[in-house]
Formats: sequence, structure tokens, C-alpha cells
Amino acid sequence: MADKTTIEQIKNLRQAINEHNYRYYALDEPSIPDVEFDKLMRKLQELESLHPELITPDSPTQRVGTAPVKAFAEIRHEVPMLSLDNAFTEEEVLAFQQRISERLHSYDDIVFTCEPKLDGLAVSLLYREGLLISAATRGDGTVGEDITSNIRTLRDVPLQLRGNFPALLEVRGEVYMSKAGFAHLNDEARQHRPLSKLTAESQKQGALERRTGATQLLTSAVEFRKRSNEKIFVNPRNAAAGSLRQLDPRMTAQRPLSIYCYGIGQVSDDHIFQKHSEILQCLREWGCRVNELTEQKTTIAGCLDYYHAMQEKRESLPYEIDGVVYKVDDLALQRRLGFVSRAPRFALAHKFPAQEQVTVLLDVEFQVGRTGALTPVARLQPVFVGGATVSNATLHNMDEIQRKDIRIGDTVIVRRAGDVIPEVVAPLLDRRGEDTRAIELPEVCPVCQSTVYRSPDEARARCMGGLYCPAQRKEAIRHFAHRRAMDIEGLGDRIVEQLVNLGKVHTIADIYHLNLNQLTEMDRMGIKSAQNLLDAIAKSKTTTFARLIYGLGIRDVGETTAKSLANHYRDLSQLMEADKENLQTISDIGPIVAQSIHTFFSQKHNREVIERLLKAGIHWPQTERKAVLPLQGQTYVLTGTLTAFSRDQAKAVLEGLGATVSGSVSKNTHAVIAGEAAGSKLDKALALGVPVLDEKEFVRLTSDMRNQA
Ligand code: IVH
Repeated sequence: MADKTTIEQIKNLRQAINEHNYRYYALDEPSIPDVEFDKLMRKLQELESLHPELITPDSPTQRVGTAPVKAFAEIRHEVPMLSLDNAFTEEEVLAFQQRISERLHSYDDIVFTCEPKLDGLAVSLLYREGLLISAATRGDGTVGEDITSNIRTLRDVPLQLRGNFPALLEVRGEVYMSKAGFAHLNDEARQHRPLSKLTAESQKQGALERRTGATQLLTSAVEFRKRSNEKIFVNPRNAAAGSLRQLDPRMTAQRPLSIYCYGIGQVSDDHIFQKHSEILQCLREWGCRVNELTEQKTTIAGCLDYYHAMQEKRESLPYEIDGVVYKVDDLALQRRLGFVSRAPRFALAHKFPAQEQVTVLLDVEFQVGRTGALTPVARLQPVFVGGATVSNATLHNMDEIQRKDIRIGDTVIVRRAGDVIPEVVAPLLDRRGEDTRAIELPEVCPVCQSTVYRSPDEARARCMGGLYCPAQRKEAIRHFAHRRAMDIEGLGDRIVEQLVNLGKVHTIADIYHLNLNQLTEMDRMGIKSAQNLLDAIAKSKTTTFARLIYGLGIRDVGETTAKSLANHYRDLSQLMEADKENLQTISDIGPIVAQSIHTFFSQKHNREVIERLLKAGIHWPQTERKAVLPLQGQTYVLTGTLTAFSRDQAKAVLEGLGATVSGSVSKNTHAVIAGEAAGSKLDKALALGVPVLDEKEFVRLTSDMRNQA
């Protein structure tokens, strides 16, 4: 028998889950991330399985979602839209297989269809005689909302099926927003533009709409104003949900939504299918979008391989997935396995480790970068997220802090995805206590006490101390010594820290005047390591022009721009004397970068440092400049995965032919080379009308050019 505390606990859990469900489904305003919700749900399931006598028909474990908002009409699902059981560990996946095998009295020959688990929202599309007649959200699984007009605006939802389709067919799938679409939408919402800029903006949007096939839904200036005041979404799933539940379908039409179909509900002739994979094949043939990463596996080990492969791919996919789904392929076996409460026994969602977690923002410190930019860094109560323990995360800049309304002491959502620096996504406003305090930009640099200045057109505040500021000096030296710049092995963070603190190195040129005595005076530096460092410093004197330019740490000059500059100018003095107009004749240099380069070389102290570097013996062998290489002056952008080349190999091929390879697409880009799973860069190329080459075309181009060279 359950005691009073357990009964109370179950009651509270149900109440909390119902509240979160309401916020998530009805209001589109989730107040906790999925992981937290999953935890509550699991806890309730656990307690209910220990005390089945306490299960009530209205428990959230017995139904999915919540009632639809009243503004949309209701649609009843003839075949309920169920959910999936989740697995987080391999043991749970093996237990799933074990359950299946036991029920089917066979351990072999079970084929699984493996699919990515899209992170969007489930929809049902009803086709009669091939014509889309209605579309609905999942709602509570039995009754959903009628979103037909909104769904019709999605370009990849066929309004009419093709080929030999059943008279009645209900297609089920996931509506989602691509990562690029999400970033674009939030960028737009962030910019509270004055009306004068609306015309240019409308044109840009026009280009986007042509791509999404929504030309008929041209946006008026008034709507743009409405849009720019819209709230910022925390993630693409939240954005997709908000977009699909717009009462005005014209608003939905402006949102970059897509669909992947993964199954069926009602069908007039269900005997036509024997296998789930046949359903997917037919859906494709009838014109529905089915995810191309779907695979068949004959063992559970194969399923786990699929999971790991998808986990590897996750970051590079243009859309978010939060796991994979395994489905028994044989429909007769599916029927034999049946369902438990809210989920089928024949399918399982194998979830990836959560990329978002909740923790407390303990404090904010400001870090000073190479160019003096102050970055607010969140000090967090350590939390395990995205596979690592995180105690620091970026808050980007003061605008972001204001926009997200973050305060010290807040409970916040932290996100760590792949190799990306962890970031604070948003505070949980309903958990804000009395004792939070505002984050304030310091008036003076936390390192050198120089004035902090923020120009009105910049998001970042900067320390005005320049190279007087030890933080900026240290960063400048670290950058100069970096593997991709002057490549001074052994000149790591710890040593730079000491060299600057002890006043042995003030500028990058001082590195070349260090001697054995000075180095051995430092902590943990024996004669041998000191000599090794001196050797590495000496070795770095022979370098390339591009490495030196990059190593100087000129604002806005990354490796690619450094290479372009080195390619374009005969020598350093020619580059130092170049005016802004001349700099802009290089294809990937615009007015901002030209200004940064010009400002850098016009500073007396920078010229002195360069002179001292050259005096110290820095030099680069003059490679014979090829008269004209076939792709000279052309800029290419690589995106997605190529099958026969790594990114670096493809870059080297292009650069060998004289091309510049840039990381971002602009109207000056000659062409974009798009491999598999190309993302936002491909979208941008299409929006700007930049030519796109696939891998075959890339190979053809480069081999033709090589023949020419
Ligand atoms: S099959 C009977 N396949 O995940 C269950 N669902 O957690 C039918 N989802 O409600 C769902 N990708 O919104 C299925 N390839 C996929 C999916 C998928 C994403 C979503 C869907 C579902 C939820 C269950």
C-alpha cells in the first residue's frame, strides 16, 4: 500500500506535468527544457509502476499532451497519435529487444527500420482521393487542432498526392524548422528596425519567399513591424511550434518550416503494406518528404551503430535531431507486439544526451580578448550537459544579456552542442527569486583599469588600454604563437602568462629577444625546456607571408583573408602602404575589413613592432608568383560533407588553383560547393543567387582547370 507521502508526491508530479504540458502545447511557452520534463514524467511512471492501484485515467502517463487552445477548431484522430518510449542507455535498448524477442518467441530475423528522431512537432495530414483535406496537431493524442490552412503553406507538404495512392490516407510526420531558418528568424526579431529600412528588408524577404514558394504572400511593412517585435524563440522546435500555431496562416507562410513524413494513420486499404519500409517507400512515391538517412538494420548491434553514426552527424545536419527511432519493420510483427498505454511496443526512441540543462548563474565576469573586447562569462553551478561538466558559459555581449533578461542568481538553461562554446540560452523567469541582481558592464577594464568604451554601432564594449592592457597583450602573444600562425611550439598559455606578468615580454617582437637566463628564471622551466623553446622561437623565424599577416592579429583578418592578402601583395611594405580602396579590390575584402587593416598599419606602435620583427630575422621564402592561376581572384565556399575529399583537401585543391576559400557566402562568392547535408551556407547561396556546384561538378571544374594550368 502506498503511504501518504507517495500519494502526495504523485499528486504534485501530476499537477506539475499538467502545468508544463499546458505551457508547452497550449501556450507555446515551455518553462523548462525537455530533460527536466522527462525527469518528472519518469519519476511519475516509476511511482505508478510501484503502485499501479494509484493510476487514474487522467494521469499524464495515460495520455499525451493537453487539450488544444480554443481558437483552432478540433480534429479527432481516428487512429490515436501515440508517443514513443524513450531509451537513454544501451542497456535500455537491449531491454527493448529482449522484450520484443520474448513476446515473439524468436531471437533472430527481426529487421528494424532506423530513422533520425526529428526535433519538431508531430502532425497528421489527411488525404482523400489524393487531395489534402485536413491537417492536425497531435493535441492530446485523440483530439488535435485543425491547422490545415497553416500546413498548406509548407512547400514540402503535397497538396495533391502523385501516382497510385489509396482513396483515404492519413500521413504522419514531423514539422520542424532548420537550424539556419531558426537563426535567421531570431536575427530578424532581434533587429528592431526603423521603418526606413523596411523596403530593403522586404526585398530580402521577397527573395526568401520566392524560394519557399510563398510569393503570393507578400509581406506589408506593417507586418514587418509586428514581426520585428516578436518574441525570440529558445530553440528551433519551440520556433516551429510557435509558427505552426499562428492564427494567421500568412505568418506561418513566412516561417521556414519543413516536414519529414515517417508513418501513416488511417488508410482505406491497409493490406497493401507488409512492412514499415514499404510505407516509407510509398510515401516517397506519393510525393511526401521522407528522411533520406533512414536505414534498415538486422541486429540490435546494427541499430546501435546507426545511433553512433547519427550522433557523429548530428552537428552537421541542417536540422535538429534529439535521437534516433528504431521500428520493427514487419507490420504483422508490429500488430503482434501491440501497445502499452501511450506507446507502441514495436518502436523505441533512443535519445542523445541532452544538449540543454538547467543550473544556477552564480556570477558574471568579464574576459578581455585580443582586441580588447569584453565578453561576459557566466560562472555556473557545475552541470553535466552535452557530455561534459560545464561551469563557465558565454553570455556573448550586453545586448544579449538584456534581450534574454538574465540576472545573477537566476536559474538558467545552459546549452552545449558539439564543440561549440557552452552558452546561456535563457533564464527560467518563473523560478526567479527575490535576491537576483542585474549584470552591469564594468566602467573600467577588470584587468588594467583603463576606460571601457562601447561605440553605439557595436555590440561589444572594449577596453581602451590597447597593448598597455596585460590581458590584450597575452592574447596577442598567444595568437601570434598559435599553430596556425607562427607556430611556436611550447609557447603555451602558462608561459605567456608568466612572461607578461614578469614583464619579460611586452610585444610580440620581444619574443625574439628572450635568452636562456630569462627563461630558466621562470616556474617549472629547466634548461632543457628553455632551450627547446628558444629553438622553436628561432625556427619560427622562417615562415610564410600569410602566417605572419595572420599572426599580427589584425582585427577582422582571419586565416583566409591573410592568405588573400599574401597572395595579392608582393611584400609587406606594399601591404602596409595599401589604402582602403586598393585593399577592397581583393574579392573577399569589404569596407569594414579594409578599414581594420588600414587602421592597424597606420598605428605607429604597430609599425615599430613589425620593424623589430623583421630586424630579428623573420623572413619568408619568396615563392615564385604564378602569372595567373586559373581560379585566381575567385572565391569559393565549401559546405556539407564531400565523399571523396576532406574539407582541408578540397580547400587545398581550390587554393592550388589560385582560388580563395572563404567561410561565409556573400554576393561576391563565385560559387558554393555543396556536399551532403549542406546547411545554412547552401540556403544563403540560393537566396543570393550564387551558383551551387555538387561534388561531381566540383571534380569536373578542378580537373578541367588543372588541365588548363
Ligand atoms: S514514430 C507511435 N518516427 O517523436 C509513435 N516519431 O517521442 C509514432 N518523432 O510524437 C511516432 N521523429 O513527434 C516517429 N522518425 C520518427 C520521428 C518521430 C520524430 C517524434 C514524433 C513523436 C515523438 C515521440
